[in-house]
Amino acid sequence: MNNQELKNTAQRMVAHDKGLLAMDESNPTCDKRFAKQGIPQTVEARRAYRELLITTPRLGECISGVILYDETIRQRGKDGTPFVETIQRAGIVPGIKVDTGAKALAGHPGEKVTEGLDGLRERLNEYFQMGARFAKWRAVITPGTGIPSRGCIEANAGALARYAALCQEAGLVPVVEPEVLMEGDHTLQRCSELTEEVLRAVFAHLYTQRVELDGMILKPNMVLPGLSCPQQEGVDEVADATVQCLSRAVPAAVPGVAFLSGGQSCELASARLNAMNVRFKSKLPWAVAFSFARAIQQPALEIWKGHEENVTAAQQALYHRARCNRAARRGEYQPAMERSWKWDAVSAGKAA
Ligand code: G3H
Repeated sequence: MNNQELKNTAQRMVAHDKGLLAMDESNPTCDKRFAKQGIPQTVEARRAYRELLITTPRLGECISGVILYDETIRQRGKDGTPFVETIQRAGIVPGIKVDTGAKALAGHPGEKVTEGLDGLRERLNEYFQMGARFAKWRAVITPGTGIPSRGCIEANAGALARYAALCQEAGLVPVVEPEVLMEGDHTLQRCSELTEEVLRAVFAHLYTQRVELDGMILKPNMVLPGLSCPQQEGVDEVADATVQCLSRAVPAAVPGVAFLSGGQSCELASARLNAMNVRFKSKLPWAVAFSFARAIQQPALEIWKGHEENVTAAQQALYHRARCNRAARRGEYQPAMERSWKWDAVSAGKAA
């Protein structure tokens, strides 16, 4: 393992106010999203969609890294160029999701543990050879009555730490993703307590497994009230709660915190990220960035619908969301950007 290279990669992933585009949906998740838009659920449709994403003009202005899935990292564009090469040429770091999904945790009804450690060393070495320079593993924590249990938190934190150590051994920056889900009627306060408990456990296990904190990225949830909680706090209150919670649990050596979107609307995810940067950017030890899937991709997917003639418009929508989130990292995102984007994105596309 070369620590300096890991550090450089991690720094690059959050440099210049850019962030990550998560396009690592497993085939079943991707197919589910395609089905909702009437898109055929085939290898070719998934390939064409991922090609649309990575060939978006000027994507590299706002996106530092993309997270791929095992099927996707092996695919090529219509002209035969490997996806990894296209991504590298755009100045973007290729990454790969390496967990094999969240499965029922034995003895813990309603809770999950993420699997994928078996054979991971060999898979990581293969992905490194293919050009990946970072990896991602997502643990899922479900808030509910009497849950999460300590057993669930410990099992997931332990797996995240073992994954992270293996990544660093293979020369890949681990993106450590413990997600407290938004589904439920829990309050903002409850989400904050849970998120802090989970993060403290995760960092304790990372320390025990000798993970270098300056060669990793944390990908947490924002601190939010549950989707069905009657009390929905405003953007600034969410920003305050999130930063306060993370400040208590995330060591200063971590170069970047790149939030998942978790099912928030695109606009809210950008507005909340923006508020964190407006209010705290100059005071925080880590970069406050994004690693969104739905909150960047959803409008593009809805425009594309599987039709070649919609590719340009879909790419413009993708570029727009990427640009909004880069603005949010700078604390410069304005809701007005949502109204004026079409013209800007069209001219950006032409200039590319
Ligand atoms: O693991 C989940 C993705 O990487 C982030 O997806 O932004 O849609 O929550 P999301």
